[in-house]
Amino acid sequence: MSRKLTGKVALVTGGSRGLGAVIAGTLADQGADIAISYVSSEDKALAVVDKLMAKGVRAIAIKADQGDPTSSDPLIQEVMERLGQLDILVNNAAVAWQGKKIDAPDIDNVAMDKQWTINTIGVISTIRAAARVLPEGGRIISVGSGLGTRIAFPGTTDYAASKAAIVAYSKGAARDLGARNITVNIVQAGMMDTDMAAGSKGHLPPIVMGSHAIQRFAAVEEVASAILYLAGPDAGFITGSVIDVNGGFTA
Ligand SMILES: NC(=O)c1ccc[n+]([C@@H]2O[C@H](COP(=O)([O-])OP(=O)(O)OC[C@H]3O[C@@H](n4cnc5c(N)ncnc54)[C@H](OP(=O)(O)O)[C@@H]3O)[C@@H](O)[C@H]2O)c1
Repeated sequence: MSRKLTGKVALVTGGSRGLGAVIAGTLADQGADIAISYVSSEDKALAVVDKLMAKGVRAIAIKADQGDPTSSDPLIQEVMERLGQLDILVNNAAVAWQGKKIDAPDIDNVAMDKQWTINTIGVISTIRAAARVLPEGGRIISVGSGLGTRIAFPGTTDYAASKAAIVAYSKGAARDLGARNITVNIVQAGMMDTDMAAGSKGHLPPIVMGSHAIQRFAAVEEVASAILYLAGPDAGFITGSVIDVNGGFTA
């Protein structure tokens, strides 16, 4: 059976668990060799690598803290050294520190700033590093959030804005890299039952689920399949786009 990504190498940041681990498996199922990054879950990352290798592809895990922008260049260099090329970058790693309004007396602004560094500056520095090595026809896909474009409830300002910034950056990068046929897109995920949303399922205020046309959590596979499409050969003319996989959140 022909596989769409045979001969390609993909880096999935934050591939040790949650959506990132499923994206890595989905791309590997189509024949891509895979690098995943992680910050703390070494055992989980190595378990993901074992599962990827069982699919018959090369797979490696690299520790790289996206909260330290100086780690982006070494991350990309290590992928190049160990896997020989980089064709597809999936910026998946992020944190979601939400729940307090910006005028709450006990809001942790140091944590909010750290969230910006991980979710925005870290993604930008990874895109910059990858842009130097991606070949003609390369792919950059970043995982956003429906909150990046529409905000239906309070307490999420910094997280939402950290994702919104990536939308504008990706549109600019699409312009900058279009001459090399490198596409740059965003997939805005809906709520998924991962560690990031731990304990949320079934316990959200009615306004949250009520703002979705389809009132359920996304399956991680539903989000991963949109990323697979953008990574593949059929999506070469889609760039600077935002694809929502979020059940019609505030549609
Ligand atoms: N879950 C949701 O409801 C939801 C909704 C909309 C959008 N999203 C987006 O979907 C993406 C995946 O989220 P998820 O739910 O799968 O999250 P998750 O289960 O919390 O997993 C986060 C992943 O990111 C990695 N990571 C976190 N901080 C990092 C850092 N400083 N440097 C490098 N890696 C780091 C983690 O590595 P370690 O294991 O080493 O900590 C882990 O692999 C994120 O971009 C998130 O914003 C999620």
